[in-house]
Amino acid sequence: MSSLNVTARSSLCLVIGDPIAHSLSPAMHNAGYEALGLPFVMAAARVSPEQLADAVRGMRALAIRGLAVTMPHKVSIIPFLDRLDPVAKAIGAVNTVVNDNGTLTGHNTDWIGIVNPLMRIAPLKGVRVALLGAGGAALAAAYGCSAQGASVTIFNRTPEKARPLAALCGGEVRSLAEAASIRDFDIIINTTSVGMGESAGESPIPADVITQRHIVFETIYHPFSTQLTKDGEARGARVLRGFDMFIEQGLAQFELHTGVKGPREVMQRILIQSLNP
Ligand code: ATR
Repeated sequence: MSSLNVTARSSLCLVIGDPIAHSLSPAMHNAGYEALGLPFVMAAARVSPEQLADAVRGMRALAIRGLAVTMPHKVSIIPFLDRLDPVAKAIGAVNTVVNDNGTLTGHNTDWIGIVNPLMRIAPLKGVRVALLGAGGAALAAAYGCSAQGASVTIFNRTPEKARPLAALCGGEVRSLAEAASIRDFDIIINTTSVGMGESAGESPIPADVITQRHIVFETIYHPFSTQLTKDGEARGARVLRGFDMFIEQGLAQFELHTGVKGPREVMQRILIQSLNP
């Protein structure tokens, strides 16, 4: 890290969430600002659900330029904003806020984090996506893939919980217990939490349903490799990781906050150092 170059003219951005201490966003964004010589700085603020309204009011009072928004605020922040961009509105969740002279607009770049890495491998039109999970990350994945013309089938432990998501993207719902049928799909995207925290070392699906025809996209970024990505590699599938998603959503966020494209290589390097794969 080189010297700190923060002045009274610097624009302040914050990543907010609870917990937040392990967020990689400040390291990634600050490395990008510094490489481009942009007068920006990002810090992290732990904001509890009870304090969210005050935090957004504070953002206005302090003229904070932008927010990166993470769990558990991606949906609950919406009523406190002035505008939503159409995609954030369709997804119903916000991971980026931009403050333009006091007008706060909510955006969603999570779907870009899923779609861009996939589209670099192949177009999504007409492909069959097996989406594992039905929570917040699944929402962005379902929106992104169906907007690009893929058909999405949601596999969830609790199928009933996946119905609203299925209605949103016009997809079908199956139980995770029916994972054998995943063999017939083109892309597998894991948005469940299986593979991190207490379930590190576990995979949401049996390894033998993965074939070399599959693209396996794991949205967990910590740990860098999960049982699912290991199984995917062992079975000859192409594998994308939470790392690929995190950098892409972060680059789109960087551009919304600063108005310029982020330096991918620099931001990727700092992320790899932090994740220590
Ligand atoms: P996020 O917003 O990060 O996607 P979430 O909203 O808590 O997280 O969603 C977690 C997802 O992981 C859900 O789809 C959940 O399945 P249920 O709807 O059945 O609860 C899934 N999940 C969590 N633990 C799981 C487990 N042990 N096995 C299978 N699925 C699991």
